[in-house]
Amino acid sequence: MLANVIAIDGPAASGKSTAAKNLAKTLGIVYINTGSMYRAIAWKAAQKGISSKDSEAVEKMLQNTTLAYEQQTPSSPWDICIDGIFPGQKLRSPEIAQAASDVATMPAVRAFTLDIQRNMAKDKLIVMEGRDIGTVVFPNARYKFFLTASPRARAYRRLTQDGETPDGATLDSVAAEIAERDKQDSERTVAPLRQAEDAIYVDSSNCTQEQTLAVLLRYIHDLKK
Ligand code: CDP
Repeated sequence: MLANVIAIDGPAASGKSTAAKNLAKTLGIVYINTGSMYRAIAWKAAQKGISSKDSEAVEKMLQNTTLAYEQQTPSSPWDICIDGIFPGQKLRSPEIAQAASDVATMPAVRAFTLDIQRNMAKDKLIVMEGRDIGTVVFPNARYKFFLTASPRARAYRRLTQDGETPDGATLDSVAAEIAERDKQDSERTVAPLRQAEDAIYVDSSNCTQEQTLAVLLRYIHDLKK
């Protein structure tokens, strides 16, 4: 049976979030950014002085952690909430991005997030974005896309996102940071970043947001929300 999910996977700064948000808005369905789960876990660990590489301490921390997507008000978008707090923009720093990639290699973290993610598509159609949605979380997703862009285009996109790069960052330094994270994400043993065999490959290097959305919509038919 197909899962009620449109899966969008791809590397850092490939335009996944924008594409997934635009798609969800156009279809009138919920959008879930799974990267924010790893970012929230990394953020909580940092608050507690726990290293993002200390798997034992992070695993212990998860025993007292609640993670959910909620709406702050009935009209707000769904956002990550950890222990009753919405960290919002605090999750978007380059340090948290790297620490998220560290905790995302830990089997205990992945088991924790997998359960939450699978529960989300039980009763409604959703757009879910990440690294392993079409391969591990929902191998039976109704639609699967693998969205990417050239390293240069991705570095440029990240550089122009407010607050997501350090002061003084250049195209080269951002490209190096992204390359390092992609390497860690692709080479880890559990749920590595890779294209599912049956995913539709989309290269958005030369596409505007609108063009990328149009490409995705071309493949989507027969939606039962
Ligand atoms: O926005 P950006 O593409 O830079 O990153 P993100 O989607 O917020 O993900 C942050 C980190 O979380 C990634 O580098 C991955 O290590 C991890 N992640 C993951 O392992 N699995 C997912 N499904 C989503 C994110």
